[in-house]
Amino acid sequence: MLIWVFLAGTVLVSGTFENIQELPDYQKLSQNPYGSKILSTISLQLSSDKPPEEVILLLEEISNKLLDEQRKDDQLNVTRAAECKAEIEFLDRPIEVMHSEIERAKQIEAEREPLFNSTIEKRNAKDQEIRFFEGEIMSLDRNSKIDAEKLQKKYQEHEEALSAIDSSLEYMQKVYTDQESQSVKSNHPHMEIIPLDVLLEVSENQDSIVKLIDIMTDIRKDYQASLKSLIDRKLEGEKDYKELKDSISSVISDLKEIRESLDKHSLELSDDLEESRRMQREAREECGSMERARDDKVTECEAWSNQYINEKDKRSEELQIIREIQKLYSV
Ligand SMILES: *[C@@H]1O[C@H](CO)[C@@H](O)[C@H](O)[C@H]1NC(C)=O
Ligand SMILES: *[C@@H]1O[C@H](CO)[C@@H](O)[C@H](O)[C@H]1NC(C)=O
Repeated sequence: MLIWVFLAGTVLVSGTFENIQELPDYQKLSQNPYGSKILSTISLQLSSDKPPEEVILLLEEISNKLLDEQRKDDQLNVTRAAECKAEIEFLDRPIEVMHSEIERAKQIEAEREPLFNSTIEKRNAKDQEIRFFEGEIMSLDRNSKIDAEKLQKKYQEHEEALSAIDSSLEYMQKVYTDQESQSVKSNHPHMEIIPLDVLLEVSENQDSIVKLIDIMTDIRKDYQASLKSLIDRKLEGEKDYKELKDSISSVISDLKEIRESLDKHSLELSDDLEESRRMQREAREECGSMERARDDKVTECEAWSNQYINEKDKRSEELQIIREIQKLYSV
C-alpha cells in the first residue's frame, strides 16, 4: 500500500516534472485580466478542497459557454446581415426611382422653360402691336372728328351765305318789281353778301338790277354746287373713315386672337413648369428622408458588424486562454 502511494507520488511528481517544459507561462497568463480572473477562481476552488476534476469540469463549462455564445453571435450576425441587406436594398430602389423622377422633371423644366420664355416674348410683342393699332384708331377717330367739324363749319358758312344770297335776290326782285322805298332798302336784313351802298347805287338803275340778279343767280348756283360737294365730301369722308376703322379693327381682332392663343399656350407651359418644379421639390424631400434613413441603417449595421468582430476577437482570445489553462490542469 505504501509502495503504491510512493509510486503514484513518484509518477505524479515525475509527470509534473516532465510536463514543465511544455507548460504555458503561468505568470504570463496571470498578467492577463481574464487569465488572472480564471486562475483566481480556480485557486479559490482548490483552496476550498474541491477535487481537481471539478476544475477540469469548470474549465470545460467555461469553454462551452464561450463557444455557445459565439454560435449565438454568429447566428445573430447572419440574421442581422440579412436584415441589413434587405432593408438597405428596400430603400435603394425607391431612392433610385426618386432620382430618375427628379431627372425626368428637370428635363421637362429644361425643355419647357425656353419655350415658355419665347411664348411670353411673342405674347408681349403682340400686345404692343395691339396697343399701337388701338392708338391708330384713337387718332383716326380724333382726326375724323376734327375733319367733320371743319366740314360742318364750312357747310354752315355756305348755308349762311346762300341764305344771304337768297334774301338779297328776293330783295332785288322786290326792288325790281315794286320799286320799294329807301327805308325798306336800308332796313333789309342779310345784305352782307353785297355791300349796302353798292346795292343802293345799283337799285337806282333797272338794267343794273337785272344784271346783278343774273350774277347773283350764278353765284347762288356755285354755292349750291359747293354745298352739294361738301355733302359728298362728308359722306365720302365717313365712308373712308369707316373702311379704315374696320380694317384696323379687324387687324386688332386678329392680333387679339393670336394673343389669346399665346396666353393659353403660355399658361399651359407655366403649369407644366410649376408641376415639374413641384415634383422636383417633393421628390428631393422624399429622397432626402429616405437617404437619411438608409445612411442611418448603414451606420447601425456597421456598428453591429464592428461589435460582432470585437466580441469575436475577445472571445477567441478568452478561449485561447482557457485552452492554455486547461493544459495546466489537464495532467
Ligand atoms: C458577419 O456579418 C458580416 C456582414 O455584416 C459578414 O461579412 C460576415 O461573413 C458574417 N460572419 C459570419 C461568421 O457569419
Ligand atoms: C427664362 O426667363 C427667366 C426669367 O426672366 C430667366 O430667369 C431664365 O433664365 C429664362 N430661361 C431661359 C432658358 O431663357
